[in-house]
Amino acid sequence: MGLFAGGVVLTSCVRLTLAWTDLEPNGEAATPPVLVDGENALRWRDERTPQLRDAFERHVIGVMPDASSTRIIEKRVIDEAAFGGRGRLEEWTLSAAATFNGVAVETREVMNRGGFLVQVAIPSGTAGPAPIVMMQTFCPSWDAMPHAGVSRPEDADSMSGGLLGSVATYVFGRFICTPPYEEILDRGFAVASFYPSSVAPDSREEGLAELRRLSAGHKDDETRWGAVAAWAWLYGRMTDAFESDERFDKEAFIAWGHSRYGKAALYAAAYDERIDGVIAHQSGTGGASLNRNKPGESVTSMTETYPHWFAQSYADAASAEDAMPIDQHHLLALIAPRPVMLGNARRDVWSDPNGAFRAAIGADAAWELFGENGLDQQRLDQWEPAADIAFWIRPGTHGVVEEDWPAFLEFLDAHFAPVTIAAVRD
Ligand code: GCU
Repeated sequence: MGLFAGGVVLTSCVRLTLAWTDLEPNGEAATPPVLVDGENALRWRDERTPQLRDAFERHVIGVMPDASSTRIIEKRVIDEAAFGGRGRLEEWTLSAAATFNGVAVETREVMNRGGFLVQVAIPSGTAGPAPIVMMQTFCPSWDAMPHAGVSRPEDADSMSGGLLGSVATYVFGRFICTPPYEEILDRGFAVASFYPSSVAPDSREEGLAELRRLSAGHKDDETRWGAVAAWAWLYGRMTDAFESDERFDKEAFIAWGHSRYGKAALYAAAYDERIDGVIAHQSGTGGASLNRNKPGESVTSMTETYPHWFAQSYADAASAEDAMPIDQHHLLALIAPRPVMLGNARRDVWSDPNGAFRAAIGADAAWELFGENGLDQQRLDQWEPAADIAFWIRPGTHGVVEEDWPAFLEFLDAHFAPVTIAAVRD
């Protein structure tokens, strides 16, 4: 992450964290209705789902590609026995193409490798195919994956290494960059780590230019895709690649993302049914939190600060709020009946945890249509990891901290635990 982008993250996430989130659902928009009378699972799937996806594309994230393809260029073994022998570490080079109106454009390459890089840690000692957590991270892969064999440019601009990195880790928690790989592997989960900004840059000018290049066949600037849509699409391209490898359990592909990448993880699952579960931590505005009656970050503020994240139409609709035919509970509902975990922090009012909880209440009916229990809590702090909408809130502020990963792992275990883990390690 560049210094500028890092600076923006630091300033905008830290502000407004002095207030506390109410632990009871509050606000006028307490439970917006999600489904119309007479809805059933079939109609939901065949009629409502395409309508809602289309509405999010037109009003929020921008239009998704008409077609996509993914090429696996290389699978390079970095270490057969990484993380103290717990897993095998590989680096995959992928390239993807997005087609808009018949014009196909390939993603750009990273470090002259012909594509972009994804690091994949696969647990040793598991009996069958491993569930896989596909993570998009804030830091370049060489920072997110602590292994000397991971490719890095000579002039690597490091978030976790430099002063900015130390400040970021201090403010946003030690897991902001690097998840606890050993613990994840010990539970039998594979982890894929990818730096989305290497493909759709998280910066105004470069980001907008690259998004425009990739969607050359789409002529309408109002509904051109933003980075959140492109990052969501990239979870799908990782899914393409992992689906073709029998070492991974196709019924347990989980998209994990924090904050802006939490937004992307939600859209990834909403648009790609091969994604079996989501952990969206502090996804906030444009993610799990409702657009209407919101404290914390407004849509206007977000789209002004980050004009490259969403379609221009979202910024325009924000000034005429009532024109929006959808709200974010519809996004969550598009994930039903698959499990979704929404991570939050009590003082992260900027992300509006209460609005995310109310969105979960609104979305719950979609799980019921499929005969599943969605949300299984009345308050924000009644953590139920086995529920299909599992809402987690801890004290503290924005970031990924010590308490978060045990909760993520509880959710993963409850829904996607591998059948057996053969080896017992010390
Ligand atoms: C800023 C931004 C949020 C976003 C967050 C992040 O705080 O305002 O919308 O979720 O950055 O990605 O960390």
